[in-house]
Amino acid sequence: MALACLADSVVILTDEVQLDAFMTNYAEDTKHHKPLFVLSGGSNVLLPAKLNAIVLRPQMRGIKVIAQTDAYIDIEVMAGENWHDLVVYTVTKGWYGLENLALIPGLTGAAPIQNIGAYGMQLEDCLQSVRAYHLPSRTWHDLSAVDCEFDYRDSMFKRQPNTWLISRVGFRLHTDATKVRASYGDVQIVAQDYAAQHGRSKPTPADVMHAIIEIRQQKLPDPKHLPNCGSFFQNPIIPQAQFTALQSYYPTIVGYPMPDAMTKVAAGWLIEQAGLKGGGIAPIVTHQQQALVLTNHAPYIATKQDVAAAQKYIADTIYEKFAIQLSREPVWVNTNGSIGYKEHVV
Ligand code: EPU
Repeated sequence: MALACLADSVVILTDEVQLDAFMTNYAEDTKHHKPLFVLSGGSNVLLPAKLNAIVLRPQMRGIKVIAQTDAYIDIEVMAGENWHDLVVYTVTKGWYGLENLALIPGLTGAAPIQNIGAYGMQLEDCLQSVRAYHLPSRTWHDLSAVDCEFDYRDSMFKRQPNTWLISRVGFRLHTDATKVRASYGDVQIVAQDYAAQHGRSKPTPADVMHAIIEIRQQKLPDPKHLPNCGSFFQNPIIPQAQFTALQSYYPTIVGYPMPDAMTKVAAGWLIEQAGLKGGGIAPIVTHQQQALVLTNHAPYIATKQDVAAAQKYIADTIYEKFAIQLSREPVWVNTNGSIGYKEHVV
């Protein structure tokens, strides 16, 4: 979101042994204890102007093949690998499964935290394992996908802030070029077009990846040019009965059925219908092509409070109009490095 932030100190970690060494010193130095804060790529955090914490930055690199058969390939990826580069690398190698998650900003180590998802897939669909360091007990843990307790935009890592540092993520990918997930919205049409242009009757995983890159580039602002942290709000999950009642007033409302008689509502639709596409409180306003994304038009000058003001204004407007409470998606970091989880008003 390009908010200026000055931290007490930053420790760059390029291997796991460095973390062990740092934590041993940290545990012994009880006099100067500052809180620890783990920062990955920084694409989904809202940082304070002054961060009174020691920032740990996992930047271990490397991609290793762990096992391979004709049907699948298991890889282990170090936390500091750029996520989009990993997607392109795997698809180019003919290892499929991550293609729908192309162009999501950030590093691989942060991907499990909020179980990144887009275009009909979530990280948990391919994830096999996570190696993570438990900061309070100073121990390493090899976790399975079940241990991670994934949910929509959520995991046990997100529910236990400042507790885990992820160093490796393991994936099981497949080699079947006919197996694609292309049923989400525009993806089907754009991927089919892309395949046809290249003389193929059906899209391959690479065609799906290219289609998704094209769709994202059209709809979503590039954080390098217009700072943003992707979807700012989660899509709210409301009772099916409330959704049906809203549908009678707003026949075009967009929702997806969920288990337990619930419906996930497209927050972008709600914001647009409330007349807030391009609206907010300057310099933080919603994006013209995708109202779910808040953009910062004053990089390094705007503060977290500016973001909070825009968040409150948008969330209050939506609540008044639809009686639906929006929850923030990016992580809210306090001056002492603690994390404000999911609150509506900050
Ligand atoms: N819509 C509007 N107006 C808008 C935005 C969306 O009417 O301004 C409608 C669309 O027409 C569509 C529906 O809302 O019918 C859903 O829109 P879209 O397909 O763009 O997806 P989304 O629900 O708004 C989610 C993820 C995105 C992900 C897309 C595609 C969340 C919070 N966001 O957005 O993730 O790229 O689906 O799968 O679940 C991100 O997390 O940073 C992110 C961009």
